[in-house]
Amino acid sequence: MSGPLADDFGREVTGVRISLTDRCNFDCVYCHNEGLGDTRGPMDPQDDEMDTDDVVRFLEVVAEYGVEKVKFTGGEPMLRDDLEEIIRRTPDHMEVSMTTNGTFLPGRAEDLKEAGLDRVNVSQDALDPDEFAEITKSGAYDEVLKGVEAAVDAGLDPVKLNMVVFKHTAGYVDEMVDHVAGDNGLQLQLIQYMPELTGRPEWNIDIQRVHDWLAEEADRVETREMHDRKRYWVDGGMVEIVDPVENEEFCANCGRVRVTHEGYLKGCLNRNDDLQSMGEMTREEIAETFEDVVANRVPYYGEYMVENDDGEYEINEKYLGTPTAD
Ligand code: 5AD
Repeated sequence: MSGPLADDFGREVTGVRISLTDRCNFDCVYCHNEGLGDTRGPMDPQDDEMDTDDVVRFLEVVAEYGVEKVKFTGGEPMLRDDLEEIIRRTPDHMEVSMTTNGTFLPGRAEDLKEAGLDRVNVSQDALDPDEFAEITKSGAYDEVLKGVEAAVDAGLDPVKLNMVVFKHTAGYVDEMVDHVAGDNGLQLQLIQYMPELTGRPEWNIDIQRVHDWLAEEADRVETREMHDRKRYWVDGGMVEIVDPVENEEFCANCGRVRVTHEGYLKGCLNRNDDLQSMGEMTREEIAETFEDVVANRVPYYGEYMVENDDGEYEINEKYLGTPTAD
């Protein structure tokens, strides 16, 4: 096994984020669907999804390139019946996590733990059933709470609650911070709303205000320079802010490569012109494409997008007119 591959900006790729399906039983108003657009579609398994062996083969290949962490995502990854098998066959040394809406965790959390899942992120944007229904276009609030409980009970902790901070949720941040206080197996991840991918810029809020408020509330703040997020401890609970928008430091520290459910590699969440097919998913094709994608990764903010004289980000001229990869 070799060490991690690095791109031209010195960013080592140590993690992969695999979308196992773009199907989802929710229809969250803010959803960027991993940067691929519309989330609606059929619920039953689709032919375009990578099969079990494809996913496992990919993981085995990138393990050889020093990838240490995998996050399974979607759509809703728990709509895949072979999720436990995929996790069981994931190379042993990898840290395995999953981002889920939580509704299918009751009754399945223990099997996932047993298969080798280390921890989960559950998208929980509200603590109120009506608000929750409005955001997720689903009435499954109680199932989500049960799912979070099942995950904690199964030892899939710390369970990180993902809350997208935007117009609909900004007023509830303090409630959510209270909710994870103490030692209850929960942490809160406040995620800056990314308007680029949803077309609703008016839902944007100023994330700096959330930083400032938390800094006042917190007993302790951790800022690691070589890290892409800031951590606050409030009343024994941990709260992280993930704020990638126009954040050059965030991009400078990004070590993730993404995989779409169809088996395309994607070097950056914000871009759709960098997708590269892994073809028939032979080991050689996977290895070659992975090397190529890493070699071509560039930080989104600070390189692909640069600030103009008016302080606005625009595409760096040198990336204009480059042919779309397939
Ligand atoms: N902005 C920020 N975060 C988003 N997520 C999905 N869409 C967006 C967006 N537009 C995050 C949510 C969800 C995870 C899968 O992706 O936090 O939990």
